[in-house]
Amino acid sequence: MNKKKIYSNYKKKINLYKKFNKAYYDLNQPNVSDKDYDELKKEILKLEENYKFLESKFSPNNIVGYKPSKNFKKSLHKVPMLSLGNAFSEEDLINFEKKITNYLSIKNSYKIFYSAEPKIDGISASLIFKNGKFHKGLSRGDGKEGEDITKNLNTIQDIPKEIYHKDFPEEIDIRGEVFIQNSDFKSLNEKFANPRNAASGSLRQKNPEETKKIPLKFIAYTFGYEKGLMVNNQSDFLKKLSQWGFKTNPLNKLITGIKNLMKNYDEIEKKRANLDFDIDGIVYKVNDFAMQRRLGNVANAPRWAIAHKFSSNKAVSKILDIEIQIGRTGALTPVAKIQPINIGGVIVSNATLHNEDEINRKDIRIDDTAVIERAGDVIPHILSVDKQKRSKNSKKFMFPKNCPSCGSETIKEFNNVTKKVDAVRRCSSEGYYCDKISIEKLKHFISKEAFNIDGFGKKIVENFWKLKFIKYPQDIFNLDFLKIENLDGWGKLSVQNLKYSIDQKKTISLERFIYSLGIRHIGLENAKLLSKHFVSFSEFKKLSKQNDYEDMLNIDGIGETQVNSIKNFFSNETNQQVLNELEKVLFIKDAIQNSDDGILKNKTFLVTGKLNGISRAEVKSLIEENSGKIVSSVSKKLNYLITGDKPTKKKIDNAKQLDIKVIDQAEFLKMLNKAS
Ligand code: IVH
Repeated sequence: MNKKKIYSNYKKKINLYKKFNKAYYDLNQPNVSDKDYDELKKEILKLEENYKFLESKFSPNNIVGYKPSKNFKKSLHKVPMLSLGNAFSEEDLINFEKKITNYLSIKNSYKIFYSAEPKIDGISASLIFKNGKFHKGLSRGDGKEGEDITKNLNTIQDIPKEIYHKDFPEEIDIRGEVFIQNSDFKSLNEKFANPRNAASGSLRQKNPEETKKIPLKFIAYTFGYEKGLMVNNQSDFLKKLSQWGFKTNPLNKLITGIKNLMKNYDEIEKKRANLDFDIDGIVYKVNDFAMQRRLGNVANAPRWAIAHKFSSNKAVSKILDIEIQIGRTGALTPVAKIQPINIGGVIVSNATLHNEDEINRKDIRIDDTAVIERAGDVIPHILSVDKQKRSKNSKKFMFPKNCPSCGSETIKEFNNVTKKVDAVRRCSSEGYYCDKISIEKLKHFISKEAFNIDGFGKKIVENFWKLKFIKYPQDIFNLDFLKIENLDGWGKLSVQNLKYSIDQKKTISLERFIYSLGIRHIGLENAKLLSKHFVSFSEFKKLSKQNDYEDMLNIDGIGETQVNSIKNFFSNETNQQVLNELEKVLFIKDAIQNSDDGILKNKTFLVTGKLNGISRAEVKSLIEENSGKIVSSVSKKLNYLITGDKPTKKKIDNAKQLDIKVIDQAEFLKMLNKAS
């Protein structure tokens, strides 16, 4: 890579890092997981190490956190508020200790004692005491300069305001963590994503009266500058803190040896779910202050301390209940309701259990202690349960034999294609008979790929259902808007808008219409195939009369499973009624027939780059409507490469080499006799 490229890559990462910092420290709305944040930080540091010419004042080496907000007066920290290096494994800890023994040039066998302190995930604060009185309190800010949040900190009961002990230093900057207990967080309104954000948000309220309303806690763990402190090590300091009236972490311990650190780490990680405060790791500090002084700092973190982080995407919690959700096709999906827990910055209170088989295989029961995993945006799931922790009277979970919504029998179908019994258990009722299925069918009907009615989302479906405004799809087109206007939260204008968007969607293509019916096994692609085959709604509807289902097997892509499902759909009287009623209120457009001898017959196309005012999807249908074909790569089979804005150069080069015609948008439209 050349210098310019390296620099632009570096700059990109720095900008992203700045954005994450702003979101985390200033807006209290983290937009990235801790893991990804740490990874980015590592990448930047690595680049700086490999390429010495890279530097930025926004490098993780130069900033800790984000600039103080404008709401508060700024104030310099006499001793900077440092950050900590991270360890994730036993190996990292071995290295940490090795660096210390090397630096101090002491024997490997020397027993270093560490103060092991569970790392509370809150907001750090610095409290300056002068002559026994709380004088001033600062936020961390960028580590060098913080915000003066004295008034807000004054509202926190855990912070002693006056200390009369003889051995309390004349001046000292006591540091610790401001946080909210999980139990208190639960009773707050849902303005904040997690306890940490809530603590940060309330601590930085302009009006201290607002801060006072939120039960903030404070735990002390270190100091900045001091005058007259008569203590030689961290564990004694922690003892003093509690004598002076500060709260300290009850799980703090004095430990020597990496194996023992690991043991303590495992024990605390197990306890994590039952603690009333979120911890994201354990901080280890060399206990002896004289040793700490010798070790000093690197960049913005001390050599004598490290944070041993818990893996961020897994957590242990308790299964409070197992609920059965019912989907549009009647599938019963078990969901574990768990004791809310913070997994990588997100409070998780539900985890999917997939299906009955999964519950049986893992023997998951109510009241079990379980490991929950949350990866990316997928729904969290239960990895395993701890059978040892089970009480004697724990009972195997019995999957309901009747639908919890309508009471119909539940069944596991035999799949004729795979020759296996389905893992999924279903409600055997016929669609709209079961309330839960019915609501889900309506949600599908208005979904993006189906009717996609502006402003008519899932919440409205649920609301209107409860009010008995809708039960069947046709009800959406026969709403009594006067009634809606009188509802809380609705006004003339919003009702007008709703009416307008519903009217707009009364005209619909046959493929979308078929898809919206929510027939099992008929997704978007199959709906398209059926639409092409039947061309008009009336032909599609005739199916039921003519009983000509087998004919559909001739459609390329439609198999026995789909045909059976359609047959099932039409054999249901309610479905027939829904079709009749919808026909009355809708205009269902015939499918556009692709003639086999259009202008582009036997011609193949590929698009590279962005076209002007026309989407890829539209180009595809234009080509197909005129009997042409879209291919996916440049090869001998390609006839025309259509180039738009910012095309892939390689594709153009390849096309030229193969003597393929390279044309622009105007030339393409000309082929269709359309002006650009
Ligand atoms: S000591 C120089 N002790 O972790 C040492 N920090 O990434 C730095 N934290 O900003 C502070 N529990 O917000 C220390 N027992 C503890 C801690 C702790 C939580 C936080 C604190 C700090 C961050 C370091």
